[in-house]
Amino acid sequence: MKGILTTYGAYLPLTSHTPTLTLGEGDTPLVAAPVLSRETCADVFLKLEGCNPTGSFKDRGMVVAVAKAVEEGARAVICASTGNTAASAAAYAARAGLTCAVVIPSGKIALGKLSQAIIHHARVLPIEGNFDQALKLVCELAEQGSITLVNSVNPYRIEGQKTGAFEIVDELGDAPDILALPVGNAGNITAYWRGFGEYQRAGKATRRPKMFGFQAAGAAPIVRGAPVESPQTVATAIRIGNPASWRGAVAARDESGGLIDAVTDDEILAAYHFLAEREGVFCEPASAAGVAGILKLARAARLPHGARIVCILTGNGLKDPDNAIAQAEMPRALPATMEALTGILDL
Ligand code: F0G
Repeated sequence: MKGILTTYGAYLPLTSHTPTLTLGEGDTPLVAAPVLSRETCADVFLKLEGCNPTGSFKDRGMVVAVAKAVEEGARAVICASTGNTAASAAAYAARAGLTCAVVIPSGKIALGKLSQAIIHHARVLPIEGNFDQALKLVCELAEQGSITLVNSVNPYRIEGQKTGAFEIVDELGDAPDILALPVGNAGNITAYWRGFGEYQRAGKATRRPKMFGFQAAGAAPIVRGAPVESPQTVATAIRIGNPASWRGAVAARDESGGLIDAVTDDEILAAYHFLAEREGVFCEPASAAGVAGILKLARAARLPHGARIVCILTGNGLKDPDNAIAQAEMPRALPATMEALTGILDL
């Protein structure tokens, strides 16, 4: 694997002094979703960003942010995170030989993500507060100058994340009609919109998609038009009440003729199970928000017939094993006999 600095270097703010850092990020699968397509009367593809090295889309932006931090002589990086940014920062910092600190909302991080930050030896700093408070704190800390901030307020993050749009166009031959994705801190929707625009200007695409962003109903500040003081959702990755890239998300929505809508936790979990049971794809709950959104629009007859839609599945289901088994009854152990198995299986 080449990684995005090599593959898309011409579109990134690299210099001859930027180290060619990579863990093999990017080049993620774009797979057709036949059952979802039937269900929505559309032509739906899933972009499996959970196949990135640390299991989420964050690696695209993080590799650029950490490479630039090294280039600029940084010794340490810091971020606030609902989990995936922390996991990615921890891994790329380890790879680059930098110290990493992550500030996270205590008790609201999926287990897989926490295990990643710990195993990569980041300084894990849980706070009694939410992501928005954590982000405010790390921004203030970074302003003091001794540590580099690698949240998406760092412009290199958005630059790297836009490469997801390039890959979609490279694979499909042009932009899709609609791009559907979850919105939390709103960096990703901002980045994809920039990527599609740059590729169109470069003559690689003839058009740009409508951007369809979906927030969790209990954490939907952009939909409501005001920050949410105490955001709540089962999709902890997008449990955010005051997104840093709010303006970028609104611009992506308005310039593309798209929308930003809310989906309930029930709708998110239904889409999460649908993807796993009917398409064989295991993503984390937040990632299912985009799919929940298009299912909801299709049921309301608000999705154009036959539209080509790409849903960004932002993170791997294994990030959040607790959620996968939360509603399920754990099967009891059986005697190790044929009778016990055939008695149960009813084939
Ligand atoms: N999906 C997943 C799995 C995420 O981890 C995030 C954000 C999003 C969607 C939303 O993307 O913030 O660019 O709008 N996670 C951040 C984190 C906040 O700290 O890992 P966004």
